[in-house]
Amino acid sequence: MTGLEDARAGRGRFISLVGDAGIGKTRTLEEFVVRAAVPEERVIWGRCPEHHGLPAYWPWTQAIGRYVERCEAETLARALGRGAADLAPFIPLIGDRLGGLEPPSPCDPDQSRLRFFDSIATFLRRTAESQPVVLVLDDLHWADEGSILLLAYLAPELRRSRALLLGAYREREMKRLKRLPRLLGEIARVSERIPLHGFEPAEVGDFVRTATDIHPGESVITRLHAISQGNPFFLDELVRLLRTSGQLEHADGEFGAFLPDEVRQVDGLAADLIEAGCAPVWRVLAIAPAIARP
Ligand SMILES: Nc1ncnc2c1ncn2[C@@H]1O[C@H](COP(=O)(O)OP(=O)(O)OP(=O)(O)O)[C@@H](O)[C@H]1O
Ligand SMILES: [Mg+2]
Repeated sequence: MTGLEDARAGRGRFISLVGDAGIGKTRTLEEFVVRAAVPEERVIWGRCPEHHGLPAYWPWTQAIGRYVERCEAETLARALGRGAADLAPFIPLIGDRLGGLEPPSPCDPDQSRLRFFDSIATFLRRTAESQPVVLVLDDLHWADEGSILLLAYLAPELRRSRALLLGAYREREMKRLKRLPRLLGEIARVSERIPLHGFEPAEVGDFVRTATDIHPGESVITRLHAISQGNPFFLDELVRLLRTSGQLEHADGEFGAFLPDEVRQVDGLAADLIEAGCAPVWRVLAIAPAIARP
């Protein structure tokens, strides 16, 4: 929460949550926003989908587009200023809301990119002029290059504003996608990085009790922790599987281990999953048939 206090005091920050798939990045961002009690209209969410071929700056244009949609026209016009014309080709809703915008004067691609970046920076700074704005960009490992360069441009620009930037990404996925060193380096350079880790064994116990109202023995908790590596997503999947087959109450911690043929047959799949930070997926897949057996 100190990130928000600093933003309120006009010292904007960019904080990134880093960790494997399912470790709790999105959940932590959501909890933060709820607990921070920032009015809904001052939280701007952008997500980077896994699809290829989306237009450049997709997470930004989607996020700002949603903000534009619900903002009063007068406030919007003030926040965008002359940048409205530069942003309208990327976010057509701006033209719809404000109307009568001249098309931006032609210039070379580098200049045009700089104008776009600068217009977004101005828009965020003005939007956060009197009250904090929280901009959340999730799944940055799938962001296009332009979106990350924009982030790198903005982070220092917003240090004297009331904007708090929050990002989340899977570092291992980024490495696997071979987007190093430039893009990952850019985020690491401009953000304060908070690595997220899996649950400790005691937390695994709490999770199971809260999720199921079942109180498994110590050996089961230890095994669940070892298999899931404390990853909440995999733990949840695992607990569901075990519960369905009635093993959660009665298991002694030995769930068996078995690599199903479907997985074995796909050359390199297990290795890929492990490399992508999905070792627990492999383990869940590995034990699922054994659990499902009567
Ligand atoms: N601290 C927690 N307590 C209880 N459940 C949690 C916790 N953290 C995460 N979860 C649950 O685990 C699941 C995975 O979490 P989440 O979606 O936040 O992971 P993620 O790190 O964003 O993964 P991805 O990289 O795939 O987006 C969700 O169902 C979430 O509600
Ligand atoms: Mg997520």
